[in-house]
Amino acid sequence: MEFTCKAFSDRTYKILFEWGGLRRLRAILESEKLNGPYFIITDKNVYKSQHRNLDDALQGADFCYHIVPPGENSKSFKEWRRIQNFLLERGADRRAVVIAFGGGVIGDLAGFSASTYMRGLNLVQIPTTLLSQSDSSIGAKVAINHPEAKNMIGSFYQPRLVISDPSLLQTLPAREFSAGLGEAIKYGVIADPEILEMLRYNIEHVRSFNQEYVTWLISRCIPIKIRVVEEDERETGLRKILNFGHTIGHALEQATGYQLLRHGEAVAWGMLAAGWLAIRRNMWNADEFEKLKLIIVRSGALYPLGALKSRDVIDALKHDKKKTGKSLNFVLPEATGKVTIVRDVPQDEVRAAVGYILKFRH
Ligand SMILES: NC(=O)c1ccc[n+]([C@@H]2O[C@H](COP(=O)([O-])OP(=O)(O)OC[C@H]3O[C@@H](n4cnc5c(N)ncnc54)[C@H](O)[C@@H]3O)[C@@H](O)[C@H]2O)c1
Repeated sequence: MEFTCKAFSDRTYKILFEWGGLRRLRAILESEKLNGPYFIITDKNVYKSQHRNLDDALQGADFCYHIVPPGENSKSFKEWRRIQNFLLERGADRRAVVIAFGGGVIGDLAGFSASTYMRGLNLVQIPTTLLSQSDSSIGAKVAINHPEAKNMIGSFYQPRLVISDPSLLQTLPAREFSAGLGEAIKYGVIADPEILEMLRYNIEHVRSFNQEYVTWLISRCIPIKIRVVEEDERETGLRKILNFGHTIGHALEQATGYQLLRHGEAVAWGMLAAGWLAIRRNMWNADEFEKLKLIIVRSGALYPLGALKSRDVIDALKHDKKKTGKSLNFVLPEATGKVTIVRDVPQDEVRAAVGYILKFRH
């Protein structure tokens, strides 16, 4: 399957989504005149599980690897700087192609690194997680974290190409797969009720990695992300709907020091809180919320929140508001497949929503 994402300032790029597509990598790159050398940025886990497939796909080409530690902490100044050093030491010039080979962390880190070195090198995204194939590899947002705020240092930097091969997900640990389901469920709520219908009846098939269902799911998320970012690449309006589940999700990540929860897990909890808020405000149908709740529970993305306290989450929300200067807005469903932005939700409602998820048992 081939998609095209028309980007700001006409930096349009192709997204090739194909089971086993990695095997055609060399031919695809050459057809796009991306002849290398290739500078592959990956993390330790992805390297271990998947580098042989990439080595085979690039056989005969000029390529080298830079491996970073896995996890959110690698979206740091330190790893960004190491990548700049690596590119410099290896003599990367304008012909260089940076390949981001990994999940959302690698996509954001390698993408930001490519965007800054020599004012921008060619970037190819090869996403290897469910989250990055269905969401983060598309849309040109790249970033590292500031110690005070997530994704604070970044840019909009379009890749030349995204090559998404769902067969790479076969080595993804079950927990990471479930976390990715969090973002995929989001697409059902914001734009495509059929995603939720499929998950309602087949989530076990998806979780046991049935090729047909997994491929179908990602292939439904990609065009939604494309449509949203084509209309509003710079997040001045429509793109904000992608933040469904993210207001409280980000606060949960921050309150737990980015260690306890995966991003998709935090979003899954955040979607529960947002759904609950929508019901409390009589904006959405309670049966629909019940269906969503069941899907989220069965996705396995609700990683236990442990001893997390309401106060810590509220503090994180306030902190985020202060640091980013943004008001506390929530993306809430008005119908399944349609969301709206609700501005300045009062403190007591937010506190009640946080209380709801902290007490949630399944
Ligand atoms: N730029 C965007 O638009 C955007 C959108 C959503 C999320 N994000 C970012 O994405 C990040 C989360 O991404 P993620 O969930 O993909 O996490 P991740 O990149 O940390 O990957 C999850 C884990 O799976 C391992 N892994 C990845 N692919 C594997 C494979 N095929 N086989 C074995 N192990 C594999 C990784 O080593 C890591 O330990 C967050 O930093 C978030 O902010 C960015």
